[in-house]
Amino acid sequence: MQTSTRRGNMRFVSYCLLLLVVVLGVACSNGDGARRVSNDPPRPHVDLNDGDVATDILKVFGRPATDPSFLGCETGAYPPTNTLPPPDEYLINLDLPPEYRWVQVAEEKGMLVSAMLNNLKNYTLSLFGGELFSYVDALMPLLGRTLPPPFRDEMRGMSEISGIPFGELVLYNVFYELFTVCTSILAQDTANDLLFHARNLDFGLFLGWDAKNQTWLTTEFLRPLVIKLTFTRGNRTIFQSVNFAGYIGILTGLKKDAFSLTINERFNIKGGFFGVLEWILGKKDIKWLGFLTREVMENATSYEEAKALLTKSALLAPAYYILGGVRPGQACVITRGQRKADVLSLGLGNGGGQKNSSSNWYLVQTNYDHWKEPPFWDDRRKPAITCMDKFGPKEVGFSSLYNVLSTRPVFNKLTTYTALMQVATGEMEIYIKDCHSPCWPW
Ligand SMILES: *[C@@H]1O[C@H](CO)[C@@H](O)[C@H](O)[C@H]1NC(C)=O
Ligand SMILES: *[C@@H]1O[C@H](CO)[C@@H](O)[C@H](O)[C@H]1NC(C)=O
Ligand SMILES: *[C@@H]1O[C@H](CO)[C@@H](O)[C@H](O)[C@H]1NC(C)=O
Ligand SMILES: *[C@@H]1O[C@H](CO)[C@@H](O)[C@H](O)[C@H]1NC(C)=O
Ligand SMILES: *[C@@H]1O[C@H](CO)[C@@H](O)[C@H](O)[C@H]1NC(C)=O
Repeated sequence: MQTSTRRGNMRFVSYCLLLLVVVLGVACSNGDGARRVSNDPPRPHVDLNDGDVATDILKVFGRPATDPSFLGCETGAYPPTNTLPPPDEYLINLDLPPEYRWVQVAEEKGMLVSAMLNNLKNYTLSLFGGELFSYVDALMPLLGRTLPPPFRDEMRGMSEISGIPFGELVLYNVFYELFTVCTSILAQDTANDLLFHARNLDFGLFLGWDAKNQTWLTTEFLRPLVIKLTFTRGNRTIFQSVNFAGYIGILTGLKKDAFSLTINERFNIKGGFFGVLEWILGKKDIKWLGFLTREVMENATSYEEAKALLTKSALLAPAYYILGGVRPGQACVITRGQRKADVLSLGLGNGGGQKNSSSNWYLVQTNYDHWKEPPFWDDRRKPAITCMDKFGPKEVGFSSLYNVLSTRPVFNKLTTYTALMQVATGEMEIYIKDCHSPCWPW
């Protein structure tokens, strides 16, 4: 019994890996999965044993060697005009039993989550003829059953109300562990000792390129799902977050007078998929990225406590945690492996997200380790740093941060929203964003 479940699980994981390779292969070959024909040119060679596969794959996708995508810093973008409507807001009452917390979200956004999953299904259908999703429907609930209680029960409740199969909701929640590309910035207004935290959330890389519209299919489906959440306990606000409806972890969160927190993906197929595999095979001491942040937002009361939790817990996948506090100097980027952690704190010559920088009033984190140069075909760090330095420490605020995050290619076709946060006041502004051509795919 045990053995056959395991064999099934192994098969499922191989399917996931296969899916990834095929999806990537399609993206690399011609960017249009639906109309692939049998006499396609051979796909680029993808070596799964190389730790830095993502690097090689992105290279194949074709960003040119000399990057023309940075054409100077945006200056007049804030306050934004002609924006998409603001995200809907919901209360999540933590005093309710987990099954009942997401009722309103499920009722009002369930259709849109379904549409997004159907789009993914259609996409994989064209590659697998439906077999993958039959595996998802059969095996993801098994995976879901192993999740810690509040998360399992919250997803079960959402599934019941929205009619979305439980397994697909679990898959939907897994996806954010693996495919989130972003830029986060922490900046200190030294004159007033205020810390600002801002981020772009870019999502949908490789999940279907619409060659006709020049858009990422998944990204298009995600924009309407952006919502603002206020988590309450005892009728008091505990924290706020920006979520995609249907996702119950935290990628962007703000706890007034305590800390702000964002997650950026750290590419590493070994960590991601092997982490899921470890989980399935019984290593339950490791935590999901977005569930750890949810726990931290709910239960940590200070910057130091949050930092300790984010540094020490074993994780399913590698990640960058970007954490800001209320007091001067309380800002750091935590680079996580599954078990290891590197902490880069603001100050001490660590400005700009790199060691030995002269600017010690801000940190920038994209999707690359601060001790390495970002690759030339995905360098959002340099434009962000250039623009931060241009605004300078006297102009720290929502306006300058919004301008930096609206600068191409920091702003790109994967960008779904920009969030601006200020911990001391508890302000959180969210703008749903759509980068029109000329604009880079990532
Ligand atoms: C999926 O494909 C079917 C058939 O091609 C189409 O009717 C449907 O609209 C597609 N759904 C999505 C969400 O793209
Ligand atoms: C592509 O663009 C057309 C025309 O603007 C629009 O009607 C259609 O909905 C778009 N497709 C997607 C998947 O966004
Ligand atoms: C929250 O407020 C409602 C109505 O004001 C009240 O009935 C309920 O007991 C309160 N809950 C808690 C946990 O204080
Ligand atoms: C936060 O702590 C409470 C009380 O110990 C616990 O019931 C809850 O599950 C925790 N939240 C998370 C997300 O772990
Ligand atoms: C940074 O500064 C330290 C101390 O001055 C020096 O030892 C180190 O080599 C420098 N690192 C880089 C990358 O310049």
